[in-house]
Amino acid sequence: MQLKDVHRTFTVGEVKVHVLRGINLEILARELLIIKGESGSGKSTLLNLIGGIDQPSQGFISFNNRDLTGLDEQEITRFRRDHIGFVFQFYNLVPTLTALENVATATEIAARPMEPAAALELVGLADRLHHFPSQLSGGEQQRVAVARALAKRPELMLCDEPTGALDQENTIMILELLQKINRETGTTIVMITHAPAMAQLANRTAIIADGVIAEIITTADPLPAGAVDWS
Ligand SMILES: Nc1ncnc2c1ncn2[C@@H]1O[C@H](COP(=O)(O)OP(=O)(O)O)[C@@H](O)[C@H]1O
Ligand SMILES: [Mg+2]
Repeated sequence: MQLKDVHRTFTVGEVKVHVLRGINLEILARELLIIKGESGSGKSTLLNLIGGIDQPSQGFISFNNRDLTGLDEQEITRFRRDHIGFVFQFYNLVPTLTALENVATATEIAARPMEPAAALELVGLADRLHHFPSQLSGGEQQRVAVARALAKRPELMLCDEPTGALDQENTIMILELLQKINRETGTTIVMITHAPAMAQLANRTAIIADGVIAEIITTADPLPAGAVDWS
């Protein structure tokens, strides 16, 4: 995916907020890319543009050399459905559906999905298929959300602070799971974080500041999440 001179301005009442001011970024096939920046720096805004949830005010975004910025509502919905898996900070599970049914909400509309049970098995929840979200811990709920994204077999998984609501033990578990998915399935993953230690987890970390990509840090030998000093 390529982003060229991407801007996003929000207008609230009479105030214009120019959040993204010329983002240039390439997301490489099969990479795990971390996007880091202070709270309010525009990370979620950027991820929503990458995932086709939102459209830029100016600039170009292309995926496999296809320009996304000219697509109509129906085409962008299909792009999201066929290519993108989202994981959010607060899981966004449907409380009245079981783990299996939550995953099935995504696979029912996907082009080439896995079996929902297989996706839950991959995240280590084979014995929790019929539990409701309220019967699962935070870490388990997030694993269901990861399974839901993964079960579509998306080319690109977008994770917005996926461990923001978790304790350290569950943070490590989810991050190691995402690293494993990236490594073993080749799914491209873009993950937002504001934890400094996370820059060691990926080959590339893009720092967002003042509305632009201020720096890209490369790490030759990324660490598994369990080996990072979280203190
Ligand atoms: N839909 C929106 N309408 C108005 N302002 C928004 C909207 N979305 C985000 N913003 C503003 O854009 C800035 C960046 O927000 P966000 O991308 O959520 O930051 P981050 O994820 O880095 O914390 C914030 O000042 C936020 O208030
Ligand atoms: Mg955010």
